Amino acid sequence: MDFNASNVKVSNVLVSKEQIARRTREIGHAIGEDYNGAEVVVVGILKGAVVFMSDLVRSIPETVDISLDFMAVSSYGDSTKTSGIVRIVKDLDCSVKNQNVLIVEDIVDTGLTLSYLLKLMHEREPRSVKVCALLDKEERRKVSVDVNYRGFPIPDKFVVGYGLDYAGKWRNLPSIHIVEITE
Ligand code: IMP
Ligand code: MG
Repeated sequence: MDFNASNVKVSNVLVSKEQIARRTREIGHAIGEDYNGAEVVVVGILKGAVVFMSDLVRSIPETVDISLDFMAVSSYGDSTKTSGIVRIVKDLDCSVKNQNVLIVEDIVDTGLTLSYLLKLMHEREPRSVKVCALLDKEERRKVSVDVNYRGFPIPDKFVVGYGLDYAGKWRNLPSIHIVEITE
């Protein structure tokens, strides 16, 4: 498989598919305990969270009554630098008023996307809102956000795979890899 464009190279595995699978099962179990017998709207943030979300929901026991919804936001364009501007590209299909909402994100970086989403979600008067993110680049945070279920803290490196992309590519890699970009 040729991962390598001229100035962009996919390098070593940072988080392996086995590590992801194990951690996802643990998080699904924790969600099962916290929401035992309750209804939860699991909201995936397109497109990056789709791969994680599809594994996560199958790790949540059937004692939790889940439904799925999606939002798409845009803040990056095709660059690796955050613009700080968050635009809703696709909104939820259903009302979340009086619902338990669990937002599923691929990665929290500056926190700008998530803090915007949380503000928007709270305006819709849900019963509760929690956040589950596979990856957390905590040292990059510009605004503080609560991540209730977190897969892995990672260093300040741009990563791809398992749903995460660089310019739309490499979402299909089963593990998380670091991207090396040379100008
Ligand atoms: P934030 O608003 O800076 O927290 O950015 C969050 C969004 O930026 C994520 O949902 C990703 O779409 C994207 N992002 C941040 N870091 C990475 C990365 O290392 N690889 C791929 N996408 C990233
Ligand atoms: Mg994303």
